[in-house]
This record gives sequence, structure tokens and C-alpha cells, in this order.
Amino acid sequence: MNVSQNGSVINIKTSVGEYPVYITENAVSNITKYIPVSNSQRALIVTDSGVPAEYANTVSQQIANSVIITIPQGEENKNIQNLQLLLTAMVENNFTRTDCIIAVGGGVVGDLAGFAASMFMRGIDFYNIPTTVLAQVDSSVGGKTAVDFMGIKNIIGAFYPPKAVVIDVSVLKTLPQRQISNGLSEVVKMALTCDKELFEKIENSNAFENLEEIITRAVLIKKSVVEADEKESGLRRVLNFGHTIAHGIETANEMREFYHGECVAMGMVPMCSKTVKERLIPVLKKLNLPCDFVSQNTDKIISALSHDKKMQGDKITVVYVSKIGEFEFVTMPINEFEQTVRKAIS
Ligand SMILES: NC(=O)c1ccc[n+]([C@@H]2O[C@H](COP(=O)([O-])OP(=O)(O)OC[C@H]3O[C@@H](n4cnc5c(N)ncnc54)[C@H](O)[C@@H]3O)[C@@H](O)[C@H]2O)c1
Repeated sequence: MNVSQNGSVINIKTSVGEYPVYITENAVSNITKYIPVSNSQRALIVTDSGVPAEYANTVSQQIANSVIITIPQGEENKNIQNLQLLLTAMVENNFTRTDCIIAVGGGVVGDLAGFAASMFMRGIDFYNIPTTVLAQVDSSVGGKTAVDFMGIKNIIGAFYPPKAVVIDVSVLKTLPQRQISNGLSEVVKMALTCDKELFEKIENSNAFENLEEIITRAVLIKKSVVEADEKESGLRRVLNFGHTIAHGIETANEMREFYHGECVAMGMVPMCSKTVKERLIPVLKKLNLPCDFVSQNTDKIISALSHDKKMQGDKITVVYVSKIGEFEFVTMPINEFEQTVRKAIS
């Protein structure tokens, strides 16, 4: 990692090359320093209605030949219809193979725009400017792009690395506090499984006041995981820590009152040893994250889990943390898993 007065650059190696992740304050106002779009190159800037328009506008003003497309905010808009909208905009604006797409938004915008970039003329340059903590620490790094289809999350997608990721922590000033906590849940997940020091940092300091450092450390963890397992055939599944139960909670909780990161927070608690749990719970509370498993919905959650895609026959593989900074994959029969969960919440 190179660290300069103007932030850091972390290079991510892929099977087809490498791309930089810039972590710099006020990068959006100086975007051509990080995204080298020439005057003759067209750029499709994709954002959503919940992202303050000033960010996409500021990027657009610095790029001679750009078109902004704003999709409605929300996960339900990461869909085929909006994918088609982006592809249509590129055809109508005579985009060619040398043009590019720039995402300015959270994980919804990044996943959708990246997938459109992977498809248009068999792949054009994709730049990502993530504007949520979750997108900065997780979804913008690692090359996964997707849309949801027929009610199934991320069922259609591609591994398509960006040309560059530009993380500007100053855009987080407009992000609601609950969304900041939501993204920090994914950081706790990475720290708990892979980086004891980062966990201690979050434990002993005010994470909300150290966002740039915490985001940088999280990107370094994500780098080490995705470089070791680009296409998710092994190690990368560690990023699913807490997610098995989280998906169960999301399915059981028809009211959708929890954000994904909040479900992950609740999902991590039963998957740790007692000593880890004793340190995890105060950290989650400090970050305003829920940590009580929704005990009144246990049966519904267990039933949803048995439909989990990580099930192999009647067995399930989960990530378990018995020591902070370390993890193991544990495969167990679903009834044993059920007992573990029930014991953890009793
Ligand atoms: N590709 C991957 O590897 C990967 C990894 C994890 C998650 N994801 C995907 O990421 C998505 C979730 O991403 P998310 O949590 O960023 O949600 P999101 O993109 O829906 O953003 C959350 C909300 O914040 C708003 N917002 C974004 N930036 C803002 C800002 N700076 N100020 C104010 N409001 C802002 C958005 O409009 C939205 O309403 C899911 O679709 C998930 O599947 C992908």
C-alpha cells in the first residue's frame, strides 16, 4: 500500500491484471486525477435517486462527454429492467467499445452498472465511485457484479473487475448514520475473522471518527481474500461469516425492518465461541447494531435456512470464529446447526 498526504492506493491483482483502489478525501471534486477519461471518450454515469445528485453532477462536470442516468433507489431496482435501461442509453448515445461506465452510488448502483459494463460490446471500462460504507469496504472491491432476478438476489451476474475504484470518504457526510453502522457491520465481520488488530481498534476507539483508516484496513482485508480466491471457490466464502443466519432473518422478517448489515450483525453472534461473543456484543452495541437474535422468529428462520444455497444435501457449511482474527469452515448436519443456533439464543 502506498500512503501519501493525499490518501492511499491499494492495488488489487486479478487473473487479467490489476486495478487501483484510491482512498482519498475530496476525490470526487478531482475525479480526472483518478479516472483518466479523455475528451473523446463517452461516460455513462450511473447513480440512484437516494444518492445526493451533487456527486454525479460534480463527476459529470469534469468529463466532457458524459450522460447521467439516475435509477430509483432501493434493492428492488437492481433488476433486468434497469440493466436494459443502461444498455439502451449506451446504444442511443452511440457508445463504442472505448467508452466507459462510472458508478456513483452504493452497492446497488455498483453491482448494476458493473454488470452493464461487462455486457456492453463484450465489456467496456468500468469505474466505481462507491458512496456507502458497505460499498466502499465490500462490494466495490473484488469484481462481483450482478442483478436480482425472479426474486433471487444476484442470480445473474459476472466477475468483471473495475478499471479503478475511487473511495472518497467525504461523500459519507450525507449518508444516514444507520447506513454507516450497516457498512461497519461488514467491517466487524472482516476484522473478527481475519484481523485481530482491526477488531481491537474498533473495540478501543470511536469507529465513526476514524472512518478513513478503518475503511482502508477493511479494503486491505478484502484485497487479501479476493486475491487468494478471485472466483469464490474457497477462501472467499469467509466473507459469508454471519450471512447464513442473516439470510434466514431476511427471509423470515417479512416486514424488512432490518438492513442487511444489521442481519449480518445478528447472524455473527451465534457463530462465535463464548469468549468471542463476550467481546463482539459490546462492539456491535457501540456501533448501534442489533445483536439480539430475533428469538420469537426462530422456527421461521431455521426453516428459511434449510433452503440456503450453502446447504449440501442435509449438511450446511458455516464460518465459525473461536478466536478473534481466525476462522474455520465447519460442515455440519442441519439438525446440529439448528441445535447450535437454538443454544446460542436461549
Ligand atoms: N458485489 C459484491 O461483492 C457485493 C458485496 C456486498 C454487497 N453487495 C450488494 O450491495 C448492495 C447493497 O449496497 P448498499 O448497502 O450500499 O445499499 P444501496 O446501494 O441500496 O445504498 C443504500 C442507500 O443509501 C443511499 N446512498 C448511497 N450513497 C449515499 C450517500 N453518500 N449519501 C446519502 N445517501 C446515500 C442510496 O440511495 C440507498 O438508498 C446489495 O445489492 C448487495 O447485494 C455486493
